[in-house]
Amino acid sequence: MCGIIGVCGVGSSLDVVVQGLERLEYRGYDSAGLVSLENSGFVVSKFADGVSSVSSLAAWVRNRDLEDAPHQVRLALGHTRWATHGGATKENAHPHLDCTNRFAVVHNGIVENYRVLRSELMERGHHFRSETDTEVIVHLVEERFRLSLDLRQAVEEAFSRLEGAMAIVVSSVEEPDLLVGARRISPLVVGFGESMAFFASDIPALLGEAARFYHLEEGEAVALRGDDLGPTNGALVEMEVSWDLQSAQRDGYPDFMSKEIQEQARAVADTVAGRVGDDGLVIVDELRLDPEILRTVNKVFMVACGTSYHAAMVAKYFFEHYCRIPVELDISSEFRYRDPIVDAQTLVIGVSQSGETIDTLVALHEAKAAGARVMVICNVVGSSMARLADVVLYTRAGPEIGVAATKTHVAQIAALQIAGLYFASLRRNLYPSDVEELMAKLSEIPPAIATALASWKSFTDVAHELVDYRRFYFLGRHVGYPVALEGALKLKELSYLPSEGYAGGELKHGPIAMIDDKAVVVAIATKTRLYDKLMSNVEEVRARGARIVLVTNEGLGEPQRADLRFEVPRVFPLFSPMVDVLPLQALAYELAVAQGLNPDRPRNLAKTVTVE
Ligand code: F6R
Repeated sequence: MCGIIGVCGVGSSLDVVVQGLERLEYRGYDSAGLVSLENSGFVVSKFADGVSSVSSLAAWVRNRDLEDAPHQVRLALGHTRWATHGGATKENAHPHLDCTNRFAVVHNGIVENYRVLRSELMERGHHFRSETDTEVIVHLVEERFRLSLDLRQAVEEAFSRLEGAMAIVVSSVEEPDLLVGARRISPLVVGFGESMAFFASDIPALLGEAARFYHLEEGEAVALRGDDLGPTNGALVEMEVSWDLQSAQRDGYPDFMSKEIQEQARAVADTVAGRVGDDGLVIVDELRLDPEILRTVNKVFMVACGTSYHAAMVAKYFFEHYCRIPVELDISSEFRYRDPIVDAQTLVIGVSQSGETIDTLVALHEAKAAGARVMVICNVVGSSMARLADVVLYTRAGPEIGVAATKTHVAQIAALQIAGLYFASLRRNLYPSDVEELMAKLSEIPPAIATALASWKSFTDVAHELVDYRRFYFLGRHVGYPVALEGALKLKELSYLPSEGYAGGELKHGPIAMIDDKAVVVAIATKTRLYDKLMSNVEEVRARGARIVLVTNEGLGEPQRADLRFEVPRVFPLFSPMVDVLPLQALAYELAVAQGLNPDRPRNLAKTVTVE
């Protein structure tokens, strides 16, 4: 979704803005722009060159530095736009200016009531230059400033008229040292460096520039001055950020996805480390309610989207087996709009890498309003979901920049298993010695991941055998079923090849009609209770001519029963999805690269989905 960066202070430079936009590229965009406040007034530059927009902007800045120097930049705003209202054109790209060119805005989110506001503003004589919902904001600020002559107040008043989830940053030639930001539900962080203050959509944009980070409370507009290098009002709450600049860089890898794939053993090891206290109890990261309350819980919902949903699916098997409690799974965007039966004895677990995905965030807000207790599994410390939760367990996977989730997915599964152990020990479903034994099994996963990743070359060799196929089906049973869904999702999002995941037992109820000799069937055939049943499903598709690929363990999946094999280490079955998914990441990656596609930036996708 759209990315925002605002910079003010000594040395405010366009390079910092461009670098910030480059670090926000993972959010996905189709145009980009910036505005700088210089001695001559606002200077605006916009490009609608699709995925080249940020590099076009960078080239424009470099040329300006050569031709125009020295120009004195006092502050600058940058934006990557992922079109929602109005096409991906230069006119619709941000920043947007008011009628008088004295105010500029960048925005992420949707102004849901923009039609009403736009017609009101037009009736009052405002002239619009774009089709966006965003532009109403800057005209409202223009009007409000006329009344108060105070930019912060004008932004706050304008913001209170806007409906929907969003973050905005505004600047004005009238107050040339000031940037004003406001947010509702959508993320916006504040950073302070040696001599600069910043707003940004996300922390990686500011790594290496800001030394301290804050998040903004909702609704209140916050003003930053380049010379105030600390929080100026109560709407800022300090965040602990342990990520370093290196963790947000490619570090010699051809793309972020390959780097993040290789980081998976460490991601799980960090997520699992130090989770059992001296008293034998499982440790969560934040606990804002009396754990006794959790003992009274009699039903669990898990809500998530996309890959995070697949992690939740894996966890359902563990929770029901060890905690003996019913678990309902919901795609967040469905949970919000049905009428789930939720009360004070319900625990709703939100699973999200970003902690900002709007559908999950709103689902959790609604669950909380209905009296449920909320637990969040997420990767971003201090994210909106983490702040709303009663209990938080962080996946300590480090920043994930590639759009397709990899290391955060395996870390989510690990964190959810820890959440299950926490819950089972609280409810006394398990003895401390059982918890210890399962934790020991969990700590066997990082070395197993490392062993599997050491066979990366053998995985990509298998993938190369499949480059000419155009249809893929993934089959799994039990915890292999969510792995099959995840394999299909990764493949379709990275390589755009039609791919579907099915529970093996469902095959005969429809999908088998699609199987022929042009189809590839990838079966998750590692050692679980349903291995033999799954292999019967494999025989059914083999008999219909499909090319068979097995994800299997050494000594299993007899070579004569498959055309190709991905071999992974055998681990405790309920934890095996963290290992079994690895060759499927390799398959999706290789089939994308073989087509010349950039695995970090699949078309039409955004890393953090902050609009409905
Ligand atoms: C797919 C992928 C997405 C996300 C989904 C939820 O590779 O990354 O499906 O899993 O958009 O995002 P989070 O986890 O941030 O809530």
